[in-house]
Amino acid sequence: MSEPEKKLIFSGIQPSGTFTLGNYIGAIRNWSTYQDDYNCIYCVVDMHAITVRQEPAKLRKNTLEAYALLLASGIDPEKSLLFIQSHVRTHAELSWILNCTTQFGELSRMTQFKDKSARYSGDVNAGLFTYPVLMAADILAYNADFVPVGADQKQHLELARNVAQRFNQRYSETFTIPEPLITKVGARVMSLQDPTKKMSKSDDNPNACILVLDDRDTIIRKFKRAVTDSDAEVCYREGKDGINNLMTIYSSVTGKSYDDITSEFSGKGYGDFKIAVGEAVADSLKPLQDEFSRLIGDKAYLKECYTKGAEAAERYSQRILKKVQRKVGFVEKG
Ligand code: TYM
Repeated sequence: MSEPEKKLIFSGIQPSGTFTLGNYIGAIRNWSTYQDDYNCIYCVVDMHAITVRQEPAKLRKNTLEAYALLLASGIDPEKSLLFIQSHVRTHAELSWILNCTTQFGELSRMTQFKDKSARYSGDVNAGLFTYPVLMAADILAYNADFVPVGADQKQHLELARNVAQRFNQRYSETFTIPEPLITKVGARVMSLQDPTKKMSKSDDNPNACILVLDDRDTIIRKFKRAVTDSDAEVCYREGKDGINNLMTIYSSVTGKSYDDITSEFSGKGYGDFKIAVGEAVADSLKPLQDEFSRLIGDKAYLKECYTKGAEAAERYSQRILKKVQRKVGFVEKG
């Protein structure tokens, strides 16, 4: 992984269920494409996942599946570091120190905290509140230069930058200030049932969300049911949220421009367009699904990969943590 002249990329994903098409288009599809030009570090963030109630057996299964899905998406463990967050103690250790340089007020302004504390009002735990600090620790533990994320994580990244800058001012230059890398098309894939809301695995309506392991028929059926509007023109225009979302999805899986899509479906109805989007999405997910089926059966290989990944990540990040501990005034362990 570590070629010193290359910039470093870090990103993570929660194992709180199968990935959605939003996760795929907005984030993980791009991750493998960075591997030749950057040093890449990717992580399944199980510690973030427990900020909302998880069933332990399910979390374990989802974490392994998430790990296998990342491998299946093309992340090569020989080129990149790929590991499970709770296997690397640096994240929790650095997170505590960064908690002490993060303000209560700035965490209170996080829109994801506001949304989640309303949604899970029976369990507004401290971890949910300090979630963005752990995310900052993930990134800063490796001094990442770039963080590829969907648009919904931009505010968290801004917080990570602020925390890093504050630490540097208080204790002298320590952390690299990370930059977000947000894809142009597909940074915000919307719900198929309410296209004003982001597509999310926690949506109560299963038709709102495509899961990357959905089979072809399910994918096409969900697209056929997607909410659109009452005119019949396939074009990208303000106010046509449903169609705009389908065009974004279609464009990102086929590479076609919005103008090309409009010409392709001129004179045809929304029905044809929805089926075409469903088919294109199913085609694009097929290789990922096939590779996933192969990998998930090979538990020994998965274990070997995540163990090696964690060992390398821990070595790398503990060096940075040691420096941070020294700067804040902790006595060095003998
Ligand atoms: P998570 O697990 O919610 O999502 C993983 C990635 O998928 C992107 N994403 C989307 N992109 C487009 N459209 C959507 N509908 C959509 N839904 C999700 C997210 O922006 C994200 O890039 N807090 C993070 C995980 C995390 C992390 C990190 C990310 C923990 N530590 C350090 C980067 C760096 C999260 O919950 O992502």
